[in-house]
Amino acid sequence: MGEAITERPAAGQSWDAEGYARHAGFVPALGGEVLALLAPRPGERILDIGCGDGALTAEIAAAGAQVVGLEPDPSLAARARERGITVLAQDAHEPFGTGEYDAIFSNAALHWMRAPEVVLTNAFAALRPGGRFVAEQGGLGNVAAVLVAMNAALEAAGHGASSGNPWDFPSAARQRARLERAGFRLREIRLIPRPTPLPTGFEGWLETFGTPLFGGLAPAERAAVSADCARRLAHLCDETGRAFADYVRLRFAAEKP
Ligand code: BEZ
Repeated sequence: MGEAITERPAAGQSWDAEGYARHAGFVPALGGEVLALLAPRPGERILDIGCGDGALTAEIAAAGAQVVGLEPDPSLAARARERGITVLAQDAHEPFGTGEYDAIFSNAALHWMRAPEVVLTNAFAALRPGGRFVAEQGGLGNVAAVLVAMNAALEAAGHGASSGNPWDFPSAARQRARLERAGFRLREIRLIPRPTPLPTGFEGWLETFGTPLFGGLAPAERAAVSADCARRLAHLCDETGRAFADYVRLRFAAEKP
């Protein structure tokens, strides 16, 4: 039996392309391995789910593929278009094609989906038979310490005890089962722990990604709660003070039979 398709608390947020580049430019920069797994070929039609500002999408285009980005956020979509990428300003929960892509790619976007099974079903429909789906996202245990600190800082500021996780970080077994239920055959799927240096520290990360939990706070309180959260994560900093987020990637390659 499939998972009940429940609408989890909305993880959606709006983005600011400039802030994203400053605080999270490492996200596409660390996408080399999943891009190598995709191995785009000249002339292939490829869709990039959650293409963001198009930094990795542009690399797919540079390999000679005809790439289309899917990106509902206007600020990020505009930045991707400036790179010359065709962008469908659309949420991946809505169907995005029937049998028309040779491959579907996604980096660091699937964990934002409210109903992942719907998105996997849409990806299956959009691929031609023999087409491949290659993606990387947060997996089980991703940013676990960050989440504990975010919830503790919220509680300390009087916002009630909580253990909220607005993101979808599945185990390999769980995501395999979802992909198989959607019709895919798995070629590989694995969790990859990857402590990740944050160029602007935890406060920069929280400025860009913290909205699902901190979005209800007024700006001054959000800054104070973020600072408290960063203090609670001092054990994830090295001797020079450089912050490392406890990232765990889930990377998979699947195909439509
Ligand atoms: C991630 O890439 O793992 C991630 C980014 C933002 C929020 C949560 C997880």
